[in-house]
Amino acid sequence: MIFGAILAGGIGTRMGNVEKPKQYLMVGGKPIIIHTIEAFTACEKLDKVIVLCPEDWLDYTQELFDQYGVSSKQIAIIPGGAMRNDTIMNAISYVEKNYGLEDDTILLTHDAVRPLVTKRIIEDNIAAVREKGACDTVVPATDTIVESLDGHVISHVPDRAHLYQGQTPQSFKAKEFRELYLSLTDHEKETLTDAAKVFVIKGREVALVKGETYNVKITYPSDLQLAESLLGGKE
Ligand code: CTP
Repeated sequence: MIFGAILAGGIGTRMGNVEKPKQYLMVGGKPIIIHTIEAFTACEKLDKVIVLCPEDWLDYTQELFDQYGVSSKQIAIIPGGAMRNDTIMNAISYVEKNYGLEDDTILLTHDAVRPLVTKRIIEDNIAAVREKGACDTVVPATDTIVESLDGHVISHVPDRAHLYQGQTPQSFKAKEFRELYLSLTDHEKETLTDAAKVFVIKGREVALVKGETYNVKITYPSDLQLAESLLGGKE
Protein backbone atom coordinates (compact mmCIF):
# COMPACT_ATOMS: atom_id res chain seq x y z
CA MET A 1 0.00 0.00 0.00
CA ILE A 2 1.04 3.60 -0.50
CA PHE A 3 0.51 6.30 2.10
CA GLY A 4 1.03 10.04 2.15
CA ALA A 5 2.15 11.61 5.42
CA ILE A 6 1.54 15.34 5.56
CA LEU A 7 3.90 16.68 8.21
CA ALA A 8 2.09 19.49 10.01
CA GLY A 9 3.35 18.87 13.54
CA GLY A 10 5.44 22.05 13.83
CA ILE A 11 4.41 25.41 15.24
CA GLY A 12 6.34 27.67 12.87
CA THR A 13 8.50 29.67 15.28
CA ARG A 14 10.41 31.34 12.41
CA MET A 15 7.12 32.77 11.12
CA GLY A 16 7.13 35.05 14.17
CA ASN A 17 4.20 36.02 16.28
CA VAL A 18 1.21 34.73 14.30
CA GLU A 19 -2.08 33.56 15.75
CA LYS A 20 -1.79 29.99 14.50
CA PRO A 21 0.87 27.55 13.25
CA LYS A 22 1.90 28.65 9.74
CA GLN A 23 0.31 25.62 8.01
CA TYR A 24 -3.12 27.13 8.89
CA LEU A 25 -2.42 30.62 7.51
CA MET A 26 -4.28 31.73 4.39
CA VAL A 27 -2.61 31.99 0.97
CA GLY A 28 -4.30 32.05 -2.41
CA GLY A 29 -7.73 32.13 -0.73
CA LYS A 30 -7.31 28.93 1.36
CA PRO A 31 -5.31 27.73 4.36
CA ILE A 32 -1.88 26.47 3.27
CA ILE A 33 -2.57 22.95 4.53
CA ILE A 34 -5.72 22.71 2.38
CA HIS A 35 -3.73 23.36 -0.82
CA THR A 36 -1.28 20.65 0.23
CA ILE A 37 -3.99 18.12 1.10
CA GLU A 38 -5.79 18.77 -2.17
CA ALA A 39 -2.62 17.99 -4.15
CA PHE A 40 -2.27 14.66 -2.33
CA THR A 41 -5.91 13.58 -2.38
CA ALA A 42 -5.94 14.26 -6.14
CA CYS A 43 -3.44 11.42 -6.58
CA GLU A 44 -5.46 8.23 -6.89
CA LYS A 45 -2.37 6.04 -6.39
CA LEU A 46 -2.34 6.88 -2.67
CA ASP A 47 -4.38 4.56 -0.44
CA LYS A 48 -4.62 7.05 2.45
CA VAL A 49 -3.23 10.43 3.41
CA ILE A 50 -2.25 10.79 7.07
CA VAL A 51 -2.16 14.34 8.40
CA LEU A 52 -0.01 14.83 11.47
CA CYS A 53 -0.58 18.03 13.40
CA PRO A 54 0.08 19.44 16.88
CA GLU A 55 -2.09 17.72 19.50
CA ASP A 56 -3.87 20.99 20.41
CA TRP A 57 -4.81 21.56 16.76
CA LEU A 58 -6.45 18.20 15.99
CA ASP A 59 -10.04 19.44 16.35
CA TYR A 60 -9.28 22.64 14.48
CA THR A 61 -7.77 20.64 11.61
CA GLN A 62 -10.85 18.42 11.41
CA GLU A 63 -13.13 21.48 11.37
CA LEU A 64 -11.06 23.04 8.63
CA PHE A 65 -11.22 19.88 6.52
CA ASP A 66 -15.01 19.73 6.98
CA GLN A 67 -15.27 23.38 5.98
CA TYR A 68 -13.23 22.85 2.79
CA GLY A 69 -14.87 19.53 1.91
CA VAL A 70 -11.83 17.28 2.43
CA SER A 71 -13.24 13.75 2.47
CA SER A 72 -12.55 11.88 5.70
CA LYS A 73 -12.49 8.61 3.69
CA GLN A 74 -9.14 9.57 2.21
CA ILE A 75 -7.71 11.26 5.30
CA ALA A 76 -6.71 10.46 8.88
CA ILE A 77 -5.74 13.22 11.31
CA ILE A 78 -3.38 12.20 14.11
CA PRO A 79 -0.88 13.93 16.45
CA GLY A 80 2.66 14.68 15.27
CA GLY A 81 5.75 14.25 17.45
CA ALA A 82 8.30 16.50 19.16
CA MET A 83 10.75 16.47 16.24
CA ARG A 84 10.03 16.11 12.52
CA ASN A 85 11.28 12.53 12.43
CA ASP A 86 9.13 11.68 15.50
CA THR A 87 6.18 12.90 13.44
CA ILE A 88 7.19 10.48 10.67
CA MET A 89 7.49 7.68 13.22
CA ASN A 90 3.93 8.44 14.39
CA ALA A 91 2.73 8.06 10.81
CA ILE A 92 4.46 4.68 10.55
CA SER A 93 2.91 3.50 13.85
CA TYR A 94 -0.51 4.55 12.57
CA VAL A 95 -0.02 2.59 9.35
CA GLU A 96 1.17 -0.49 11.27
CA LYS A 97 -1.76 -0.39 13.68
CA ASN A 98 -4.45 0.16 11.07
CA TYR A 99 -3.17 -1.56 7.94
CA GLY A 100 -0.15 -3.66 8.98
CA LEU A 101 3.39 -2.92 7.85
CA GLU A 102 4.71 -4.94 4.92
CA ASP A 103 8.25 -4.76 3.51
CA ASP A 104 6.91 -2.85 0.52
CA THR A 105 4.61 -0.43 2.34
CA ILE A 106 5.52 2.96 0.88
CA LEU A 107 5.37 6.28 2.71
CA LEU A 108 5.57 9.67 0.97
CA THR A 109 6.45 12.27 3.59
CA HIS A 110 5.68 15.86 2.69
CA ASP A 111 5.92 19.23 4.46
CA ALA A 112 2.42 20.62 5.02
CA VAL A 113 3.95 24.03 4.29
CA ARG A 114 4.84 23.19 0.67
CA PRO A 115 1.43 23.82 -0.88
CA LEU A 116 2.71 23.95 -4.47
CA VAL A 117 3.67 20.30 -4.77
CA THR A 118 2.39 18.79 -8.02
CA LYS A 119 0.83 15.51 -9.10
CA ARG A 120 3.88 14.92 -11.32
CA ILE A 121 6.24 15.22 -8.34
CA ILE A 122 4.07 12.89 -6.22
CA GLU A 123 3.86 10.27 -8.99
CA ASP A 124 7.59 10.49 -9.72
CA ASN A 125 8.22 9.84 -6.02
CA ILE A 126 6.08 6.71 -6.13
CA ALA A 127 7.90 5.44 -9.23
CA ALA A 128 11.35 6.20 -7.75
CA VAL A 129 10.70 4.56 -4.41
CA ARG A 130 9.38 1.47 -6.18
CA GLU A 131 12.52 1.27 -8.28
CA LYS A 132 15.21 2.41 -5.81
CA GLY A 133 13.68 1.96 -2.33
CA ALA A 134 14.05 5.60 -1.25
CA CYS A 135 14.02 9.02 -2.93
CA ASP A 136 14.32 12.73 -2.27
CA THR A 137 12.83 15.59 -4.29
CA VAL A 138 15.48 18.14 -5.25
CA VAL A 139 16.30 21.06 -7.52
CA PRO A 140 19.84 21.97 -8.65
CA ALA A 141 21.39 24.62 -6.39
CA THR A 142 21.34 28.00 -8.08
CA ASP A 143 23.28 29.96 -5.45
CA THR A 144 26.88 29.08 -4.75
CA ILE A 145 26.83 27.28 -1.38
CA VAL A 146 29.74 28.04 0.93
CA GLU A 147 30.65 26.03 3.99
CA SER A 148 31.87 27.68 7.18
CA LEU A 149 32.72 25.53 10.16
CA ASP A 150 33.09 28.44 12.60
CA GLY A 151 30.41 30.78 11.20
CA HIS A 152 32.99 33.51 10.51
CA VAL A 153 35.12 32.47 7.55
CA ILE A 154 34.65 30.14 4.59
CA SER A 155 36.21 26.72 5.04
CA HIS A 156 35.08 25.17 1.75
CA VAL A 157 33.28 26.05 -1.48
CA PRO A 158 31.79 22.83 -2.86
CA ASP A 159 31.37 22.48 -6.64
CA ARG A 160 27.87 23.76 -7.37
CA ALA A 161 27.48 21.29 -10.23
CA HIS A 162 27.06 18.57 -7.61
CA LEU A 163 24.80 20.46 -5.20
CA TYR A 164 21.03 20.30 -4.97
CA GLN A 165 18.47 21.83 -2.67
CA GLY A 166 16.29 19.30 -0.91
CA GLN A 167 12.54 19.69 -1.04
CA THR A 168 9.78 17.22 -0.22
CA PRO A 169 8.26 14.68 -0.72
CA GLN A 170 10.88 12.32 0.64
CA SER A 171 9.67 8.79 0.12
CA PHE A 172 10.73 5.35 1.26
CA LYS A 173 9.67 1.93 2.50
CA ALA A 174 8.15 2.69 5.90
CA LYS A 175 9.47 -0.45 7.60
CA GLU A 176 13.03 0.16 6.44
CA PHE A 177 12.95 3.79 7.60
CA ARG A 178 11.87 2.71 11.05
CA GLU A 179 14.55 0.01 11.32
CA LEU A 180 17.28 2.41 10.21
CA TYR A 181 16.05 5.29 12.37
CA LEU A 182 15.88 3.12 15.50
CA SER A 183 19.43 1.90 14.87
CA LEU A 184 20.88 5.45 14.93
CA THR A 185 22.82 6.70 17.94
CA ASP A 186 21.44 9.72 19.84
CA HIS A 187 24.23 11.81 18.34
CA GLU A 188 23.31 10.70 14.80
CA LYS A 189 19.65 11.52 15.48
CA GLU A 190 20.67 15.04 16.61
CA THR A 191 22.43 15.67 13.29
CA LEU A 192 19.34 14.84 11.23
CA THR A 193 17.64 17.66 9.39
CA ASP A 194 15.45 15.45 7.24
CA ALA A 195 14.46 11.86 6.56
CA ALA A 196 16.75 11.21 3.58
CA LYS A 197 19.80 11.57 5.82
CA VAL A 198 18.69 8.49 7.80
CA PHE A 199 19.29 6.42 4.65
CA VAL A 200 22.50 8.24 3.73
CA ILE A 201 24.05 7.75 7.20
CA LYS A 202 23.32 4.05 6.89
CA GLY A 203 24.90 3.82 3.42
CA ARG A 204 21.63 3.27 1.54
CA GLU A 205 20.97 4.77 -1.89
CA VAL A 206 18.48 7.61 -2.14
CA ALA A 207 17.36 8.41 -5.69
CA LEU A 208 16.86 12.01 -6.83
CA VAL A 209 13.45 13.09 -8.08
CA LYS A 210 13.20 16.36 -9.98
CA GLY A 211 11.37 18.99 -7.93
CA GLU A 212 10.27 22.44 -9.02
CA THR A 213 11.71 25.80 -7.97
CA TYR A 214 8.18 26.90 -7.08
CA ASN A 215 7.70 23.95 -4.68
CA VAL A 216 8.76 26.37 -1.93
CA LYS A 217 8.63 25.79 1.82
CA ILE A 218 6.88 28.53 3.71
CA THR A 219 9.22 29.38 6.58
CA TYR A 220 9.41 33.18 6.99
CA PRO A 221 6.75 35.90 6.57
CA SER A 222 8.27 36.87 3.20
CA ASP A 223 7.58 33.32 1.95
CA LEU A 224 3.87 33.99 2.45
CA GLN A 225 3.99 36.78 -0.13
CA LEU A 226 5.91 34.56 -2.53
CA ALA A 227 3.41 31.71 -2.11
CA GLU A 228 0.53 34.14 -2.45
CA SER A 229 1.77 35.27 -5.85
CA LEU A 230 2.54 31.71 -6.97
CA LEU A 231 -0.80 30.31 -5.78
CA GLY A 232 -2.66 33.34 -6.99
CA GLY A 233 -1.39 32.45 -10.44
CA LYS A 234 -2.42 28.82 -10.02
CA GLU A 235 -6.01 29.42 -8.92
N1 CTP B 1 7.03 19.37 11.38
C1 CTP B 1 6.38 18.28 11.94
N2 CTP B 1 6.68 17.89 13.22
C2 CTP B 1 7.60 18.56 13.93
C3 CTP B 1 8.28 19.66 13.37
C4 CTP B 1 7.97 20.04 12.08
O1 CTP B 1 5.52 17.66 11.29
N3 CTP B 1 7.83 18.16 15.18
C5 CTP B 1 6.64 19.81 10.04
C6 CTP B 1 6.18 21.27 10.01
O2 CTP B 1 4.82 21.38 10.44
C7 CTP B 1 6.41 21.66 8.57
C8 CTP B 1 7.56 20.75 8.13
O3 CTP B 1 7.73 19.77 9.17
O4 CTP B 1 5.28 21.40 7.76
C9 CTP B 1 8.83 21.52 7.86
O5 CTP B 1 9.37 22.04 9.07
P1 CTP B 1 9.61 23.57 9.39
O6 CTP B 1 9.42 24.43 8.22
O7 CTP B 1 10.87 23.65 10.18
O8 CTP B 1 8.34 23.85 10.34
P2 CTP B 1 8.22 24.30 11.84
O9 CTP B 1 8.97 23.37 12.74
O10 CTP B 1 6.77 24.48 12.09
O11 CTP B 1 8.91 25.75 11.77
P3 CTP B 1 10.03 26.41 12.69
O12 CTP B 1 11.26 25.56 12.49
O13 CTP B 1 10.15 27.81 12.19
O14 CTP B 1 9.49 26.35 14.10
